Amino acid sequence: MRSACVFVFDAYGTLLDVHSAVSKFASALGVDAIRFSETWRAKQLEYTWTLSLMRRYEPFWTLTERALDFAFAKFPAADRALRTALLDAYRTLDAYPEVAPTLELLRASGAKIAVLSNGNRAMLEAAFRSAKLDTCLDRLLSVEDVGVFKTDPRAYQRVLDEFRCARGDVTFVSSNRWDVAGAVSFGFESVWINRTQQPDEYVELAPIKVLADLTALALPPIPNSN
Ligand code: LAC
Repeated sequence: MRSACVFVFDAYGTLLDVHSAVSKFASALGVDAIRFSETWRAKQLEYTWTLSLMRRYEPFWTLTERALDFAFAKFPAADRALRTALLDAYRTLDAYPEVAPTLELLRASGAKIAVLSNGNRAMLEAAFRSAKLDTCLDRLLSVEDVGVFKTDPRAYQRVLDEFRCARGDVTFVSSNRWDVAGAVSFGFESVWINRTQQPDEYVELAPIKVLADLTALALPPIPNSN
């Protein structure tokens, strides 16, 4: 992989495991934890896209709360007494194990490391502090500054404005295929971290690479044999 000047990472699902909140309470919840967690996540994302199309904005934390309430309504057997604990767990999600060492290696190679997330600043700062990833980053960028969610081009533009660099200087990394599509459409070379073996989509907006996790981002390129 070419050495990028700036590696920009999505946060939720890419660096932070969004399902780690529910999995901590899987046995107490009383319903299928995987389906409950997937509903929570799907609604949270849907609210970002519908609001953006309506030219409205609300903090991602508010959407996270509303999406959790939808999940509780959809799964009436789920124990509502866990609402506060689930939200607290979402503020302190686990990072995937390879994240910290990979970011450190990339940084040691001279690249700048940033996050560009739909998360609002307060929730991002809490999550990255608790996952001990805050010290691995040069910048923690939130779309809150532009008041519109990814995949609106203004969200990705935030990176160029911050680093005063060109689109070609950026490698964008996300586990969310819709986010990769948005970044490619904006003009960033992008890597899709396909952690859960999802089928490809948005084929006309393709990543330069598909990886199972972040590890290979920091490996030296394999020399050409001829
Ligand atoms: C992010 C979520 C939406 O932007 O994945 O971090």
